[in-house]
Amino acid sequence: MTAETRDAFDATSKFYDRRLPYDTRLFQQLAIELALGPEVSLLDICCGNGQLSVGFADRVKEVVGIDFSEGMLKRAPQRPNIRYLRHDLNAPALPGAVADHRFHHFVVGRAIHWLTPESLVALIGSNLRPGGSVVNCGAGWSDDTPWLEQYVALRKSYRPGQARGGRGNAGLGMAGFAQQGGVRVNKTIWCDLELLVKHALSYSSLGDMAPDEVEYFREDLTKLMEPYRADGLYQGNAVTWGAIYRRNEQLA
Ligand SMILES: C[S@@+](CC[C@H](N)C(=O)[O-])C[C@H]1O[C@@H](n2cnc3c(N)ncnc32)[C@H](O)[C@@H]1O
Repeated sequence: MTAETRDAFDATSKFYDRRLPYDTRLFQQLAIELALGPEVSLLDICCGNGQLSVGFADRVKEVVGIDFSEGMLKRAPQRPNIRYLRHDLNAPALPGAVADHRFHHFVVGRAIHWLTPESLVALIGSNLRPGGSVVNCGAGWSDDTPWLEQYVALRKSYRPGQARGGRGNAGLGMAGFAQQGGVRVNKTIWCDLELLVKHALSYSSLGDMAPDEVEYFREDLTKLMEPYRADGLYQGNAVTWGAIYRRNEQLA
C-alpha cells in the first residue's frame, strides 16, 4: 500500500502545480495567529512540491519539508532555509538529521488523511515543542462552485480513488489536540478547460491514465462544462483554509 501510494504520487507530481495554490492571505494571517518570526522552525508534513514550505519560508527561521515521493520533492522550489527530506512519515522515526529536532509548529497541507493516527501521535510526542500547534491546511474548489459536484463525479467515474491512508485527523484528538481557531479565505477564479483537466490528473488515483484515456476524459469534461462556459472560461470559487489545533493542557 505504501509503495503503491508513493508511486501514484510520483506519477501525478508533474500535474501537481495545477492544484489550486494556497492564497497568500493564509500565510499572512497564520503568521499572526502563530506568532511566527526569526526563531521559529516549522515541520511541513507530507510537503509534496513544497507549496506550504515556500509560503512560510520568509516568515520563519527554517522549514523542514518531509515527503516520501521523489517526484514531488524534485519539483519543490529550493530556498536557503528550507530542507526537504524524503521519508515515509508512517515509519517510526524522522530521519537522522532531524530525529531529535523539536519544531515550534507542524503544518500539513491536503495530506493529514495519509497519516495513521498513531504516526501523528508519535510525531507530536517526539518532535513538537510543548505549546506547539498543528495546522491542518487545504486549498481547493469550495462547495458552492456550481459545477463541482459533476466534475468530481466525472473524475471518480474514471477512477473511484484509493482508500485514503490512515485518517491522521483522529491522531489530533488522541494526542489531546482540539481546534482553536484558524483562517479561511475565498477567491473567485476564472480558469480554462486545460487547468481543469490537469487539476483532475493531479489526483494520485488518476496517475496511471494513458494518453488516449486522458483524451476521452477531456472530451467528457468539455461536454459537462459547456453550460458553464463564458468567453471560453469557467468560473469557480476557491477556498484556502488553515485549522489550528492546540493541546488543551488541562485535558492532556
Ligand atoms: C495531496 S499531496 C499534498 C502536498 C502538499 N502538502 C500540498 O499541500 O500541496 C499529498 C502528499 O502526501 C505525501 N504522502 C502521502 N503519504 C505519505 C507518507 N506516508 N509519508 C510521506 N509523505 C506521504 C504524498 O507523496 C503527497 O506529496
